[in-house]
Amino acid sequence: METKRSFTDKVIYQIYPRSFCDSNGDGIGDIQGIISKLDYLKDLGVDCLWLSPIYKSPLMDMGYDVADYYSIHPDYGTMEDFDRLLKEADKRGLRIIMDLVVNHTSDQHEWFKASRDPSSPYRDYYIWRKGKKDGVPPNNWTSMFTGPAWTYDSQSEEWYLHLYSSEQPDLNFHNEKVVEEVERILRFYLDKGVYGFRCDVINQCYKESLDDGKGLSPSGRGMEHYLCSEGNHKLLRRFYDDVFSHYDCVVIGETYAIDVENGRRYLDNHELDMFFQFDTANCDNFLLPLFKKKFKPRYLRDVIYKWQTGVSWMANYLENHDQPRSINHYGDPVKFPKASAKALAVLNLTLRGTPFIYQGEEIGMTNLPLQDPEQSQDVSCRQVNEILKKLPFTKKTRYKLANRVNRDHARTPMQWNDAVSAGFSTSEKTWLPVNPNYKAVNVASESADPASVLNFYKALLQLRKKDEVFVYGDFRPIMVHGDLIAYQRVYKDERRFILINLTGKEVKIPRHLILDGAKLLLSSLPVQGYRMGFLSPFEADIFEIK
Ligand code: GLC
Ligand code: CA
Repeated sequence: METKRSFTDKVIYQIYPRSFCDSNGDGIGDIQGIISKLDYLKDLGVDCLWLSPIYKSPLMDMGYDVADYYSIHPDYGTMEDFDRLLKEADKRGLRIIMDLVVNHTSDQHEWFKASRDPSSPYRDYYIWRKGKKDGVPPNNWTSMFTGPAWTYDSQSEEWYLHLYSSEQPDLNFHNEKVVEEVERILRFYLDKGVYGFRCDVINQCYKESLDDGKGLSPSGRGMEHYLCSEGNHKLLRRFYDDVFSHYDCVVIGETYAIDVENGRRYLDNHELDMFFQFDTANCDNFLLPLFKKKFKPRYLRDVIYKWQTGVSWMANYLENHDQPRSINHYGDPVKFPKASAKALAVLNLTLRGTPFIYQGEEIGMTNLPLQDPEQSQDVSCRQVNEILKKLPFTKKTRYKLANRVNRDHARTPMQWNDAVSAGFSTSEKTWLPVNPNYKAVNVASESADPASVLNFYKALLQLRKKDEVFVYGDFRPIMVHGDLIAYQRVYKDERRFILINLTGKEVKIPRHLILDGAKLLLSSLPVQGYRMGFLSPFEADIFEIK
């Protein structure tokens, strides 16, 4: 199962530009800010930086609503700044990956504005239809953010489709011109020296039919007509043939609700180089706020084993700008925040595939404390809150449920030091509040502390860099009762054994897992805390075995 491409041994760091570093004191992160932190990122030990969208946008969905693919939002800088970022990154051997958001555009994109006129050549760039009858949309689909997936436009007396908010109309990939426009965008950035794309909701963009969806789901009803459709597979293969195969690049799919069979097909047919599955995030029904179960490590283990053994390569992640912080989701933010962060780091960085680290994950940042969902900057949280208001919940429960899916959690400013606004900005006012825990959790203080989460990340990244078993090795799950996570990575004659306790209790290591001659390569515990035969709460160890 050896895979060698230029991306194979790389670790990718996701930057959420709005919250990474503000260079001009307006409370909003920007490109110059990113440039000022490139040395930090190099020193951390990552290889590529994926930037969440920085294109011109009304920011209705924080940039995932693009108004012009060829210009940079003034909040972040200019195209010259971006070119400079490419150059400065290149000097340090870092590569830049862009977010490609083409399932939809913003309703402020010139194409969409023009398309509202039925006689415009842009009409067919989007999906316009007559209603079933007066006031009734063309089908019963619901948007991923809840509510109907169609909006009526009185100017043209038809409805347009939007799988996300009504300000994010879906592009029509049945139109050859749209496909060509996307290829033009790809070449534009690849020719600039960009290393590749993280392709937003890419398995939803080709609608096979517009028939009614099954079921009653308040979000995503109708999915069976577009998720991983035949046309979607063909489209991605076409991007490869026409564009990607001509560059040294990487193509990463964000593939909602994907299954193993489709995953294999994307990889084996050169449609994607890797993809994000959502089972990890949803292992406790997290994405269905009303049905969430109490998290257990075995849920996470089971889905990870399924994917690790199911496909040849994965995009591994525990956090991103859409998910809560991993310590809050899979760890214990109250009693064991640091230990949780380190144990989760071991998991994320020793699986087979490309590891993704989300900004702030490397210092153990946690969720924002409870907020009024109405004050959320996140459109999906506000929409869910509106639906919940119609149901018989107390205010307290509604807050709790809406807050669970609030994407502001992981979007707060990066915590650089203990100065004003955590050193993210010179302004006291930032676009999202700084997490109040910044005095304890920040880059400066952690750099100085040998036992910090940050220094543990560095050690782990170094280990990964010098030991190719972690890159090329096969993944071998080891079955254990209870909640322990255990697996081996095997490459040629080399074996690494990973043992992770994601519970808050001490665990006795089962006899069959204690291997003679195993040599400890790295432990999440300080050396003096290590106890043979036992795992402390949230302890993770990596051994070399013969
Ligand atoms: C992806 C993005 C998310 C966005 C959505 C619509 O899931 O990660 O932030 O809201 O697509 O573009
Ligand atoms: Ca700024």
